[in-house]
Amino acid sequence: MRISVIGSGYVGLVTGACFAELGNNVLCVDNNELKIKSLKKGIVPIYEPGLKELVTSNMKEKRLSFSTSVKEGVKFSEVIFIAVNTPPKSNGEADLKFVENVAREVAVNMPSYRLIVEKSTVPVNTGEWIERTVKMFNKRNIKFDVASNPEFLREGSAINDFMHPDRIVIGVGSKKAEKILTGLYEPLGAPIVVTGIKSAELIKHASNSYLAMKVSFINAISAICDLMGADISCVSKGMGLDSRIGSDFLKAGIGFGGSCFPKDLSAFIRLSARAGYDFNLLKEVQKINEEQISLVLKKVKDMVWNIEGKTISVLGLSFKPDTDDIRNAPAFRLISMLQSEGARIKVYDPKCMEKSRKVLSKATVFCKNAYAAVDGSDCMIVATEWSEFKELDLKRIKNMMRQAVIVDGRNIYDPQKTKKLGFKYVGIGRR
Ligand code: UDX
Ligand code: UDX
Repeated sequence: MRISVIGSGYVGLVTGACFAELGNNVLCVDNNELKIKSLKKGIVPIYEPGLKELVTSNMKEKRLSFSTSVKEGVKFSEVIFIAVNTPPKSNGEADLKFVENVAREVAVNMPSYRLIVEKSTVPVNTGEWIERTVKMFNKRNIKFDVASNPEFLREGSAINDFMHPDRIVIGVGSKKAEKILTGLYEPLGAPIVVTGIKSAELIKHASNSYLAMKVSFINAISAICDLMGADISCVSKGMGLDSRIGSDFLKAGIGFGGSCFPKDLSAFIRLSARAGYDFNLLKEVQKINEEQISLVLKKVKDMVWNIEGKTISVLGLSFKPDTDDIRNAPAFRLISMLQSEGARIKVYDPKCMEKSRKVLSKATVFCKNAYAAVDGSDCMIVATEWSEFKELDLKRIKNMMRQAVIVDGRNIYDPQKTKKLGFKYVGIGRR
């Protein structure tokens, strides 16, 4: 099939490249000219494992091409996925102006029937708004359908998540739209949930909020573990083996971040309130996540006493490993708290140093590797669980640090082993 994807960011590009890999002919569109220029040369502007290879091989096979023109995208294919970003406004609502712009452009350029599929995370009712917008600008009364097909791709494993999904959710209002979309996804052999557009939109919000709730829940339990002297890894393991609970998203840490959980939670709370439901449970999920960083800061203070004048190393900046995405990454909040208390911060991350330079204050010291970052330091904080940090030579690190102190924000080291090496160690919910 021919497919157009409007918006070639983390979601759009993975979606486009994976559909191409399945044998479709895909045109990825983006209004960022620089991005499209690089993509045309086979340069992938984001880091996502396996994406570069997938993009270049499908370009070679002529199944994947790029354009800056939505008009071209609309002409190219009967199916148009919208994957533009929907950033949060200051009041927590999702900003849908990009979605609206694309809907309008699709409407004025449709030569014949088009299926417009929302892929971006959007509030319930966006489907209706897209439909209204297209109707309004569709002067020639061309037939069209709107559908919702939420993505469940985790950055860092997005390609695998696309190719091997637990389920595919398709929200449609017509048999024709259902047939097109089920046909597209059938090769994946995953269960397909076909439902109305509103339910599909709600599935996305409810799923992400539920997962964020699991993370906040385990982070709250980790605080109880700290207070009571229990070990969060044992508690989490014991809970997770109950198949009704499941072990995924039960890792305590410095809190969740990324472009989805924080944004989707605020948007869901906001839209529930508008509809007349005060979603206090989710407000608590947010509160626990915010407080998690303060708990980490307290751990640092408990280990090194005064922060002012101390050198503190932060290993990992991305919101999770295997991505260069720093949107809402908790490490940045922690760094700014430490800096405002007078710490000298040294940082290292395998993939997002360049992006971070644009965000972090000039006083931050950017290091070429983890060893350089801990050299002369009073405290090493693990903020992201990159696998290379698990492999570090801790003996060497101990000799390089001014004070051998580890605050393990992602529980990647064995507390007993690190203590045996002579470190003062504290994790999240275990010591
Ligand atoms: C996606 C979803 O769209 C978002 O709703 C979800 O919550 C997270 O994932 P993502 O792919 O991560 O967003 O965003 P980003 O990497 O910023 O990509 C969006 C792309 O759309 C950008 O490349 C941007 O240039 C492009 N864009 C934006 C357009 O092509 N046209 C526009 O009008 C606006
Ligand atoms: C999320 C959804 O999982 C995915 O389905 C899609 O809707 C996009 O949003 P993503 O944001 O890429 O994916 O990452 P995810 O793996 O969900 O992690 C989100 C955050 O939670 C990260 O900051 C991560 O560090 C944190 N997390 C996750 C934990 O702290 N503990 C866990 O056990 C799991």
